[in-house]
Amino acid sequence: MSTLGGEPPVLLVTGATGQLGPATVARLAARGDRLLLVGRDEARMAALDKEFGSPGVVETFTADVSDPLGARLAAAEARERMGSLNGLVHMVGAFHAGPSYLADLAEPDRLWRANFLSAVHTSLAVLAQAEGAARMVFFTTPLIHEPLPGLGFYAASKAALAAWMRSFSHEVKHRGVHANAVMMTMADTPDARRERPGADFGQAVTPELVARVVDFLTSEASDGLYGAAVPVLGRFGFTTGLAGGPPAGGPSAERL
Ligand SMILES: NC(=O)c1ccc[n+]([C@@H]2O[C@H](COP(=O)([O-])OP(=O)(O)OC[C@H]3O[C@@H](n4cnc5c(N)ncnc54)[C@H](OP(=O)(O)O)[C@@H]3O)[C@@H](O)[C@H]2O)c1
Repeated sequence: MSTLGGEPPVLLVTGATGQLGPATVARLAARGDRLLLVGRDEARMAALDKEFGSPGVVETFTADVSDPLGARLAAAEARERMGSLNGLVHMVGAFHAGPSYLADLAEPDRLWRANFLSAVHTSLAVLAQAEGAARMVFFTTPLIHEPLPGLGFYAASKAALAAWMRSFSHEVKHRGVHANAVMMTMADTPDARRERPGADFGQAVTPELVARVVDFLTSEASDGLYGAAVPVLGRFGFTTGLAGGPPAGGPSAERL
């Protein structure tokens, strides 16, 4: 599907080696997009190349986009190899859970770099290479609105990303640049199932469902969105003892 001026768009996909990367890459490649996949790890990049690589259509590049130079190199490489650059799917991220007062003091720096700085450096690098319109997609979390205990470094670094993304969107929307985010809870991935054997994954979104929203946010269907964070929460819900059952006289739990 062509989404930008009749030509298949060229997208930079950063953090493509992560849990959500393959489903999103598969979806965008099936649509006919041309992609430059970026990650830091040579071996993981080689695996992605083996699975999706096709010269001039889906290629890989090893760089650390949390570094300004790495981000500039990746964006320039996309334009050089594919002839243009029309957007960014920024899947880079890092997570930490546990009380702040027990954490290694390197953790806040690590999360800040992965969740905030990488997005800033990559977006500005893509903006410099894109001519005219572009679509950029970031990933955030509902925890930015209610940072639960033990998730402060993660929530704070994603909150910074979300705030910056909205401001950036206002700066660039007049040149046709759409910057939006997927706001999601934990996805149903092999890693998540291994780490949380007791969790109810019936409430989680799958990487394929996330990929469909990325498809939307990188298509003309989202032309009205600038600076939006689209909730992709699946059947997730906060629970609290204060909620109790349904109000007296209201519908019974069985009917809900
Ligand atoms: N999966 C979920 O349940 C979930 C929920 C909410 C939000 N999100 C967000 O959605 C996005 C994609 O999720 P995911 O599960 O695919 O993430 P992931 O598996 O943790 O992958 C993260 C990616 O980020 C890269 N990365 C990490 N630290 C980096 C750094 N300092 N510099 C450059 N690259 C770095 C990794 O690349 P290397 O291969 O180079 O290490 C990897 O490709 C992330 O932003 C994540 O925070 C995910």
